[in-house]
Amino acid sequence: MSSAHPHRLILFSSRQYDADTFCQANESFGVELDFREAHLDAQTAILAQGFTAVCPFVNDLVDAAVLEKLHAGGTRLVALRSAGFNHVDLHAAKRLGIAVTRVPAYSPHAVAEHAAGMILTLNRRLHRAVARTREGDFSLNGLLGFDLYGKTVGVVGTGIIGRTFGKIMAGFGMQVLAYDPGPPATDLLERGARYVALDELLANSDVVSLHCPLLPATYHMIDERALASMKRGAMLINTGRGGLVESNALIGALKSGQLGHLGLDVYEEEGGLFFEDHSDHLLQDDVLARLLTFPNVIITAHQAFFTREALIEIASTTLGNLIAWANGTPRNLVDAPAA
Ligand code: NAI
Repeated sequence: MSSAHPHRLILFSSRQYDADTFCQANESFGVELDFREAHLDAQTAILAQGFTAVCPFVNDLVDAAVLEKLHAGGTRLVALRSAGFNHVDLHAAKRLGIAVTRVPAYSPHAVAEHAAGMILTLNRRLHRAVARTREGDFSLNGLLGFDLYGKTVGVVGTGIIGRTFGKIMAGFGMQVLAYDPGPPATDLLERGARYVALDELLANSDVVSLHCPLLPATYHMIDERALASMKRGAMLINTGRGGLVESNALIGALKSGQLGHLGLDVYEEEGGLFFEDHSDHLLQDDVLARLLTFPNVIITAHQAFFTREALIEIASTTLGNLIAWANGTPRNLVDAPAA
């Protein structure tokens, strides 16, 4: 690592809340920060000229072409301000000698609590109830929910977020089924969770919640076949990554009643839409537009991470990752998977 400016960081796709929390966290780091609203792509990579460290967000495309441009401009570190890293071509980064760091755990509670909030909202139709009472409609028809107590929740991926979520739902008195190819989480086992195969989880859960990373192996893990194998009328929650679910297949499953409720915080084609106000534009994505018409579907725009505590932790870990890397003691590195 060699650089004239080891402590300068350019942040792409940044909003006022990023600037606020990074500036607050930076009081203990003293890094020179440059906030840009632009997405990082092959056109905007030029803005990073002279910055050894670049900080993209989840919908910035950090592919080989972008990395090559960043490298030519002197960038040697991609300091992600996210846990997920599916938007980075790690092989290209490795080939170019660009280190990639991430924020592995900032607030598992933020995401887990948002998933729990989606379940309560869908089950008790809170989104519809609030809209009704505002219009002076105090009727209850169509708002009938079910007790979570005694029902079964399936947790797909029991890493830091999934296990936190599983414990919250165990607190409601739900039976927890878990699936993870890695070792089981002992704290979940202590709450009575049972690890089963994915097929068994899907077939037996009243609520299925996705908490695994987007990898080639998990792309479209919830497709038409998986939806058909779920309990009729079950609820699906995705706060993981949009690509885990085949969006087109959701529409048929919702129309037939096979899928009873759907909560999405992430969407396959969210790039270019989420995090921005498009209310004055016609929505061009027909699948998303159709999903938004179902009364038993709620969609939030990738906001599960969005708590004060999480933002501060993201900022301080990202800046700490930069300083550690600049001092030759890198941490929270993301390695390219074996080819
Ligand atoms: P983590 O790395 O602690 O846990 C991921 C777990 O998924 C691991 O236990 C891993 O073994 C498991 N896994 C891997 N392949 C799997 C498969 N094929 N099926 C089931 N499980 C599998 O990650 P963490 O922090 O719990 O985050 C999980 C995901 O949540 C992230 O990868 C990210 O995509 C998403 N996320 C979403 C946010 C939002 O705002 N909506 C915010 C933060 C993370």
